[in-house]
Amino acid sequence: MKNIAIFASGTGSNAQKIIDHFRSSGLARVSVILSNKADAGVLTIAEREQIPAVVIDKEQFFRGDTYVKLLQELGTDLVVLAGFLWKVPANLVQAFSGRIINIHPALLPKFGGKGMYGHFVHEAVLAAGEKESGITIHYVNEKYDDGGVILQERCAILPEDTPDTLARKVQVLEHQWFPLIVERLLK
Ligand code: GAR
Repeated sequence: MKNIAIFASGTGSNAQKIIDHFRSSGLARVSVILSNKADAGVLTIAEREQIPAVVIDKEQFFRGDTYVKLLQELGTDLVVLAGFLWKVPANLVQAFSGRIINIHPALLPKFGGKGMYGHFVHEAVLAAGEKESGITIHYVNEKYDDGGVILQERCAILPEDTPDTLARKVQVLEHQWFPLIVERLLK
């Protein structure tokens, strides 16, 4: 059985889809959920699903090796950033080189980088007059939204789209593709 570690800062809808996808799988399980926010919705999901949860200590995360050790002790095969808003420190990137992936709600390299998350991304995409948006699933390196692309999926933008309607279209793609890519990388 392979072990997935999920890092998330928000409501955790992508984390939920990944948990659901692997619930009765013999391939892998979500063995820990880590969040930088003590009141993040994803921690409620962890509790309901009886998955061990960790609230990340900022000082330890950026200066120590507590979390590298924890992930290693849990036999983590893949680290999945599912709406995680902190940069991943170099020691974690190096310890799990090629085994950390992120999902971004736009077509990178456009509309990425610090501060580009959630609704800010969709607002920027619409303000730029783009005709399409989508998702990018990519490997994580030491820069924001910068590692090698694994998958991009697109959706059309219509003149009447708002940040909310675009967010919903992008979320459909995220929920459809993220669990499948996690599975593909674990096989
Ligand atoms: C997702 O849309 C994900 O692409 C985005 O956060 C959302 C988390 O939603 N990530 C970023 O913007 C990273 N730059 P969720 O908590 O419902 O899974």
